[in-house]
Amino acid sequence: MLRAGRVVAFPTETVYGLGGDATSDAAVARIFAAKGRPRFNPLIVHVADLVAAEAIGEFGPRARDLARRFWPGPLTLVLRRRATSGISLLACAGLDTVAIRVPSHPVAQALLCETGRPLAAPSANRSGHVSPTEAAHVATELGKRVDLILDGGRCVVGLESTVLDLSSATPGLLRPGGATLEEIARSLGWFAVVETDPAAPRSPGQLASHYAPRLPLRKDAVAARPGEALLAFGARTPPGFAEVLNLSETGDLAEAAANLFAMLRRLDRAEFTGIAVMPIPEHGLGRAINDRLRRAAAPQD
Ligand code: TXA
Ligand code: MG
Repeated sequence: MLRAGRVVAFPTETVYGLGGDATSDAAVARIFAAKGRPRFNPLIVHVADLVAAEAIGEFGPRARDLARRFWPGPLTLVLRRRATSGISLLACAGLDTVAIRVPSHPVAQALLCETGRPLAAPSANRSGHVSPTEAAHVATELGKRVDLILDGGRCVVGLESTVLDLSSATPGLLRPGGATLEEIARSLGWFAVVETDPAAPRSPGQLASHYAPRLPLRKDAVAARPGEALLAFGARTPPGFAEVLNLSETGDLAEAAANLFAMLRRLDRAEFTGIAVMPIPEHGLGRAINDRLRRAAAPQD
């Protein structure tokens, strides 16, 4: 199906992707249409290994180091695109850069090896919604808009990949994600990474309202408001909420990341007045969790 230009949802270790042949304008156009995604927002190109990635992007020593350390895994590198890459310009939104990632999920790996093509794959949700971490979420989000869903169970990381821009002199963190800033900084040197200003986005995914449930979301909640559901973290949960789901009773950030999107979906019900979320520490995977929660809490247009 992928070789014929159709779109297939598949599991990765981060979230489910909506995949299509990245060298085919028609396939990439179908991805944008299925998601309702604005065409100025470029897609991540997935490949099986570093060798395949080097045929698409220009790797300097820094990019190669990071790729060796983090791939396969939840790190996406934005690099200058090779003239001979063969990647659809639509996938790159006409930019002279390309975002590349090597996923570690065995189903994603098998799919990439079997198709022998780079696969453009944004998260398999409608544009602006919460990313899917189970096959059933994809079915709910996209229904007949997707030709096939490969069910690989729940995604173990549960948050999208970290997007790091290495296309210019200063590395820029475009999106915190499954690979932590601390791990990346250990590779690059602490002061080398610039967290880009959300007011001047380098990446369209930095738009303020994103990853949003339907209900209003309130961060850093310490007490209940009438009718609210609670997304808790840690053992000491405040009383008085209409329903409570706990991201991690032991305060484990990896467990919380893996639960975040599925629990937001479960609490996003009209019977509640809103979703309150307890404070999450701003380190490690907590940065990416807080980033998604800030966007989910931002006013929607
Ligand atoms: O974990 C993930 O990254 C998942 C799985 C399926 O791999 N994919 C994903 O894709 O989250 P998507 O399309 O939802 O997010 C891709 C992000 C967007 O914020 C986009 O703006 C940014 O990467 N991006 C893609 N190409 C870019 C480029 N050339 N320059 C800057 N940002 C880029
Ligand atoms: Mg997405």
